[in-house]
Amino acid sequence: MELETLLERWDGETVVARRDSPSGAWIFIAIHSTRLGPAVGGTRMRPYPDPSAALQDALRLSAGMTYKFAVPGLPYGGGKAVIAVPSRLDAPVRDALLRRYGGLVHQLGGLYRTAPDVGTTSDDMDRIAETGAPFVFARTVAAGGAGSSGPATAVGVFAAIQVACEQLHGEASVEGRHVVVQGAGSVGQVLIEKLLAAGARVTFTDVDESAAHRFRGSPGAVFVEPEAVYSVECDLFAPCALGGVLDERTIPRLRCRAVAGGANNQLADPADADRLRARGILYAPDYVANVGGAMAGIGIEASGWTRAEAERKVAESVESSLRRVFRLAERDGVTTDTAARRIADERLASAG
Ligand code: PHE
Repeated sequence: MELETLLERWDGETVVARRDSPSGAWIFIAIHSTRLGPAVGGTRMRPYPDPSAALQDALRLSAGMTYKFAVPGLPYGGGKAVIAVPSRLDAPVRDALLRRYGGLVHQLGGLYRTAPDVGTTSDDMDRIAETGAPFVFARTVAAGGAGSSGPATAVGVFAAIQVACEQLHGEASVEGRHVVVQGAGSVGQVLIEKLLAAGARVTFTDVDESAAHRFRGSPGAVFVEPEAVYSVECDLFAPCALGGVLDERTIPRLRCRAVAGGANNQLADPADADRLRARGILYAPDYVANVGGAMAGIGIEASGWTRAEAERKVAESVESSLRRVFRLAERDGVTTDTAARRIADERLASAG
């Protein structure tokens, strides 16, 4: 899609664009809203078919961050950075790119604060912070940061799964329930551990073949090929990889009763919320379920929470937000996605 069209259709504030010629990368920083506070959101680094696909991803992801913070009432706005890289980058080139990117974040002077996302780690945040500090969350613990945001995201997703179980079966326990986890990365892997420990049965997949060997010793966990994941009969489907996985092609194949996962932008299109509802599948809106990493990272680094405190607050917050979303959706006869948007929009409107 054309740049003008993308920006015209976007309801956000500002986009910063840079072509990084030494690496061949494109950098887009999308600042969707600063209404509730400075824009915060991770840096996603991966190859894209073309720069406009990268921009489009940044625009959509940044909006998701706005709603993510608005629902629980956190004083931050939504932003996201996408670094579209050529498929192979040598380590020194990647490092230098991260430093230049950090310089750019620094120049923005706090308008946008970054963190890890798909394709970046806490080590990368250390690199970025060497020039971008103090506008970087989730650096390594050794560097004084909160470390990976994956485990805290998983805590929130696990809480969302329990609330979904409560809504479906009247009890929150996942014991004996079958959960399909898509993606065994920084969130998915920890989520699978939690599910197994709580007595759930897990089917999982990952595009990385080596993930198949994880959980080898756990009889409760079975690996399936990536494409097979949609049609596995289960109680709950937890997308924890990339976005756009719920669409008109996959939704008819689903054999689950609920969807609750950690990936951002799970719906390919807003109409997919209606498709899920029409099939009687309960959907935990992604940004409601996956706020944990951001909430804990910010809480630990900006408010001095301990990790245990952060995990407790994440679980409590996701539980109460999601219960509220499910109640509102039932009361107003709308999709859970619409209900969550209403809660977020109300918060944004009252911020004036
Ligand atoms: N990638 C995280 C998300 O999508 C962003 C984040 C992590 C923000 C940690 C702040 C701190 O929510």
